[in-house]
Amino acid sequence: MKIFLDTANIEHIREAASLGVVDGVTTNPTLISREEGEFEDIVRQICEIVDGPVSAEVVSLDCAGMVEEAKKLVQIHENVVIKIPMTREGVKALKELSELGIRTNCTLIFSSNQALLAAKAGATFVSPFIGRLDDAGQTGMDVVREIMDMYENYAFETEVIVASARHPQHVVESALAGADIITLPFSVFDKLFKHPFTDRGIDSFLADWEKVKNR
Ligand code: G3P
Repeated sequence: MKIFLDTANIEHIREAASLGVVDGVTTNPTLISREEGEFEDIVRQICEIVDGPVSAEVVSLDCAGMVEEAKKLVQIHENVVIKIPMTREGVKALKELSELGIRTNCTLIFSSNQALLAAKAGATFVSPFIGRLDDAGQTGMDVVREIMDMYENYAFETEVIVASARHPQHVVESALAGADIITLPFSVFDKLFKHPFTDRGIDSFLADWEKVKNR
């Protein structure tokens, strides 16, 4: 399973990318609003750090506006993927962009039927928001499992990005469901490395090694 970072924070992206296990980045208008600087500059910087898909979201609500924004955004860097909201106009834009050879990530997916429509329209990626479904009392991962089954039944090439991940268990469950990608806030990514037994094990190995050195 590929791991993307769900952030526009350059320091966090640089730090995580230096570990060699980051395959891409997703942003959205909220994540961009938390950082200083121009949208296009932030996206360009991210693309220069991470050699993989970098999602940048459109804000138009009509198909023509989305396509126009997409055409400009893809000029920033070859890594740019266009995030399109799951609406009727969005689905039209997915189809048009797919015909133009522009890669897309259909966002704000909350049901498997929405994911089916996005795949039929030629989306490169879909992003089911599992944490927000969990917050609303549903089991977000159930939607991911349904999407994986649907896509396998019909051999859709659209890749599933598990989004709105809240904790490391979401990563385990996504990998067990066979999700192609999970996108993680830096805080969740950081937690993947940690286990108290690992820290305790290192401490005791080093303490014992001191005894060997002092022989
Ligand atoms: O990339 C969008 C998605 O991951 C949003 O997550 O935490 O705002 O529900 P969140």
